[in-house]
Amino acid sequence: MDAPINVADYEQLAAERLEPGVLGYFAGGAGDERTLRENVSAFGRYSLHPRVLVDVDEVSTRTSVLGTGISMPVGVAPVAFQRLVHPEGEVAMARAAAGAGTLMTLSTIATSHPAEIAAEAPPGPRWFQLYRFRDSGVTDALVADAVESGFEAIALTVDAPRAGRRERDLRTGFEYPASITAPALAAALGSSRPTTPREVFELVDSSLTWDDLAAFAAECPLPIVLKGVQTGADAALAVEHGAAAVVVSNHGGRQLDGVPAPIEILPEVVEAVAGRREVLLDGGVRRGIDVVTALGLGARAVLVGRAPLWGLAVDGEHGARDVLEILRSEVELAMVLLGCREPDEITAEHVRARPRLAP
Ligand SMILES: Cc1cc2nc3c(=O)[nH]c(=O)nc-3n(C[C@H](O)[C@H](O)[C@H](O)COP(=O)(O)O)c2cc1C
Repeated sequence: MDAPINVADYEQLAAERLEPGVLGYFAGGAGDERTLRENVSAFGRYSLHPRVLVDVDEVSTRTSVLGTGISMPVGVAPVAFQRLVHPEGEVAMARAAAGAGTLMTLSTIATSHPAEIAAEAPPGPRWFQLYRFRDSGVTDALVADAVESGFEAIALTVDAPRAGRRERDLRTGFEYPASITAPALAAALGSSRPTTPREVFELVDSSLTWDDLAAFAAECPLPIVLKGVQTGADAALAVEHGAAAVVVSNHGGRQLDGVPAPIEILPEVVEAVAGRREVLLDGGVRRGIDVVTALGLGARAVLVGRAPLWGLAVDGEHGARDVLEILRSEVELAMVLLGCREPDEITAEHVRARPRLAP
């Protein structure tokens, strides 16, 4: 292949370079991977409706999330164990996001501590993704580290009280190599070392409830973004229990197979939240037109997981940055052609669900 020009090109190049176990871990989903496929294909069920004769001489993709300015309505989702695809891992991803002027979310099970990201990457908007471990001391220490390292919000992931059944990992016998460690996990485990994703999730506190969210939100010095909301009812509860924002997400199709694509749930969540909080979405975003579709349906911004990860796998910081710049320029072009000068001008009038054929 010549130089990659879109996310699909990066995905193909990454698939050629990664060894099968690692590729299966990053590319795979749960069960029969119905949801994994749906996340991408569902965007095709929406059409875009441009307005013409709008002065689009000057267009800006800049926007904000939770009051922080970002260069485009696309941020980086938390993805675990990034040193599996590139030796600079999350540090390179953080540099790419900072260079692109957008948000980076660091996973709890990252191969770098928040402090290392702050020291090794230029400043930029950053969130820390949290799994609440059974050992609350470990969780508290992680949050303290994120606060100290200048992270601006906690993205609390609530769709994974247990690991989904990821059959690619079972078939390849995927295990985390001993040479790559996740500092937060090391702290949670003491001397022992988790070898599989399932073992990691056994550390997560599966007894968490809405009351725990309210208590955590009251004591946490950072705003809590609830990641993994999949119904309007839960989005309303999230608002009532102290969440500062919600992310409509099914964990990239890795948890409960059979759930619908986030883009299909987005309208019901936006309606339930009723403007009280910002709503973000992740899952299946591969193109700028996916981003504007989500914005038209009421998302403030989207997060991308695998897309920049493929860039990281192909060419480290440069590859991840290139993927983000490709998405930014695709979003900008889509805005120009839709007749929108800024992300806030993308509205429901620009997006329609395609009529479904009778079964
Ligand atoms: C390999 C992999 C690891 C992930 N690790 C985490 C994680 O540690 N914490 C988390 O909240 N979400 C995690 N996610 C989910 C992403 O944050 C995000 O929801 C998902 O990747 C979005 O879908 P996309 O990959 O189609 O963009 C992971 C996803 C992948 C593919």
